[in-house]
Amino acid sequence: MGDKRINIAVLVGKGSRLPAILKCIENLPDVKVEIVISYKRESSGVELAKEKGIEGLVMYWSGWKSEGKTREEFCAQVGRILTERGVNLVVMAGWDVILTKEYFEEFSGDTMNIHPSLLPAFAGLHGSKVQEEVLKSGIRETGATLHFVIDEGVDTGPIILQERVKVEDGETVESLEQKIHEKEDAMLCRAITLCAEGRLRKEGKNVTLGS
Ligand code: GRF
Repeated sequence: MGDKRINIAVLVGKGSRLPAILKCIENLPDVKVEIVISYKRESSGVELAKEKGIEGLVMYWSGWKSEGKTREEFCAQVGRILTERGVNLVVMAGWDVILTKEYFEEFSGDTMNIHPSLLPAFAGLHGSKVQEEVLKSGIRETGATLHFVIDEGVDTGPIILQERVKVEDGETVESLEQKIHEKEDAMLCRAITLCAEGRLRKEGKNVTLGS
């Protein structure tokens, strides 16, 4: 990337990180959010996208399953939509549907995911469950990780950025989440900016950030 436009798809749950992503790209003329997709039936992110004139799409995963359709078909469909829209960078922030190989067969751009812990610790957990487990464990330091998603592994892909957060006395799930969200927003913006500058490179499992 760097010498071409970056067309982003943001894959969300509720979409709480979307405002920060949209704010970040205001300063990046070659970067556009093409589409926001949520797997939840109700998503403030999808609503915000529509308000801003961006395509917002609900692909309701529970509804899909209850119609007897498979995860493989769902993931293939997501991948096809991304390719049709000319997306070349997917940012997963709150997207809790595990991607199958069909997604990667249909979509060949980069996919990154933000996770609210210092991976590999507390992998595979979602939402506030991560912070509940962090507090139960008694660790004094946690954080957030941005990583590429290259296969069906959950929270296992090559790490792009990590930021640390201290766990203070009297910390609650909410207070920890708030601190982690601030780090996540900054990391997402940094990574998108690095992409726009052509500095973020992935060779197999090796990630470099340029100088
Ligand atoms: C992010 O903060 C990230 O930690 C996790 O999901 C959160 C966003 O979820 N992966 P949502 O889109 O607001 O539901």
